[in-house]
Amino acid sequence: MKRRLFAAALLALVAAPTWAASNCSTTVEANDAMQFNQKAIVVPNTCKQFSVTLKHVGKLPKAAMGHNFVVSKSSDEPGIVADGATAGIESNYLKTGDSRIIAHTKIIGGGESDTTSFKVDALKPGQDYEFFCSFPGHAALMKGTISRAK
Ligand code: CU
Repeated sequence: MKRRLFAAALLALVAAPTWAASNCSTTVEANDAMQFNQKAIVVPNTCKQFSVTLKHVGKLPKAAMGHNFVVSKSSDEPGIVADGATAGIESNYLKTGDSRIIAHTKIIGGGESDTTSFKVDALKPGQDYEFFCSFPGHAALMKGTISRAK
């Protein structure tokens, strides 16, 4: 009986990263097929600060299949992506000082990771927020919703 409980607990630990965030941080994986492994991130209301670690689990270099993790209002995403394409990879495909950006990691390649964090108060009630990758062409596939728990 005890052993079975232990096995269940272990399984829960292993499976945890694919669940919705259960504390004030989460890890999102990105791969060589231009995909994030999460579609929706729910930030617990008990958090003041929330941090996200982006992990590139692929092998391709950042010039070919670079990814970042950007948070903004859903309505700001197209503009941030368009300005980011002009800014270039040296600027992580983001316009320097873009006030529409709530949080972002740098662009990373296969095997790399980077962490960003933001004040949870930045997510206002009644507003839709998104996370996405601003590498040119990626946001069509690489996006999801980020919201506060109800
Ligand atoms: Cu990407």
